Amino acid sequence: MPNHKIRLAVFCSGTGSNFKSLYKAIADRPLDAEIVLCLSNRSQCGAMEFARENGIAALHLSEKQFATYAEFVEAMLAALGRYRVEAIALAGYMRKVPQAVVSAYRDRMLNIHPALLPKFGGEGMYGIHVHTAVLAAGDTESGATVHLVSEEYDKGRIVLQERVPVLAGDTPETLAGRVLECEHRIYPAALEKLLLEIRTEKVR
Ligand code: GRF
Repeated sequence: MPNHKIRLAVFCSGTGSNFKSLYKAIADRPLDAEIVLCLSNRSQCGAMEFARENGIAALHLSEKQFATYAEFVEAMLAALGRYRVEAIALAGYMRKVPQAVVSAYRDRMLNIHPALLPKFGGEGMYGIHVHTAVLAAGDTESGATVHLVSEEYDKGRIVLQERVPVLAGDTPETLAGRVLECEHRIYPAALEKLLLEIRTEKVR
């Protein structure tokens, strides 16, 4: 059982509002973790800016920097090793996590999805597409799901889920905004649950 704060990496590609909510929760609650690395496929994005401003290592890692995919995967594993990362939170990371990394962090990697999985998950279901699909289906509620990452997109064990109503007149954008507020509530809570599981060695 680790007696230090659990070393967390956050993988991002965009604004990083979920990253910021995790960062804030870690400080405020406080949570039994420290964010030691922000990894992104984009050198410039809100998440990377936030990491740099807050003294968190910001690592730009993209397949394009390597001759082969295998070298990219090797570099990702090496970086995670170098920063002694024990758990990973995907927060708007728009790339598939390599299998070898999924295996290395089984039961220790979370993702947040802006819908009530298992509905509206899987390949192609990301960003605004998800909310467009929810409205097209005529559902009266949506929400957010935090789940463990497994080999298949959006299929790992669900850690936490919260519902929000779909309101008359909603557009994909207004629904996205309501769901995002919900994401910011449940991601820290789900991380807290995972940290407890790691601490009490329920997983590994
Ligand atoms: C969130 O809606 C999240 O569910 C999805 O990507 C979006 C990321 O937003 N996976 P942000 O970068 O955390 O603001």
